[in-house]
Amino acid sequence: MPSDATTSTRLPPECEPALLERFLKAEAMALWTVRSARLQDVPPNVYAFLRKHEEDEEQHLAQFETMIGRQPRERERLPSVPRQWPALAVQLYGYESLGLEFATLLVTLRPDLVSIHEDELVHVTFFEQEIHRILRSEAAAAEQARVSALAWWRKLPRTVDRYLEAAVLDPFHPVLASRILSAIGRRFTTTGLLKDR
Ligand SMILES: [Fe+2]
Ligand SMILES: [Fe+2]
Repeated sequence: MPSDATTSTRLPPECEPALLERFLKAEAMALWTVRSARLQDVPPNVYAFLRKHEEDEEQHLAQFETMIGRQPRERERLPSVPRQWPALAVQLYGYESLGLEFATLLVTLRPDLVSIHEDELVHVTFFEQEIHRILRSEAAAAEQARVSALAWWRKLPRTVDRYLEAAVLDPFHPVLASRILSAIGRRFTTTGLLKDR
């Protein structure tokens, strides 16, 4: 599915430092979430993918650390993730979709970072296939995925607001938030996680 929601919004160059700061945090969170997911009971093909996924996120984080010149705030514990695979799959799919939307925005300012966008597309595509698999599997797993998706979707506006929190981004906040939300809403509806809204 094309991620065109954010490409039509061009941020001025003065937004770049704020956007890179957001990426430093988001990539760190993505890495910790993948590490946490690897400790869960996931299907073997997912476990294999998560190893590669972890390497990608490590590399993204290192790139932002180099650009910004510091490391993200340390955490004492890995973030908690759902133990049940259908719910965990929804969470990974959701956050990777959000990461992809931000990466789409990032490359409008930094076309040199296109490889990060390409990686995020690989991550989203993998979890999207897993979501399709879950939705075609037993009814209980499919139902669990749909319930988790609805809960995740309801929290998304606040999450997006948090990610966009920066004075320099304020003028663009409403349009970016609504485009990101509609892109992810479309994605979740097309996969069958959410009913038509
Ligand atoms: Fe990433
Ligand atoms: Fe990613």
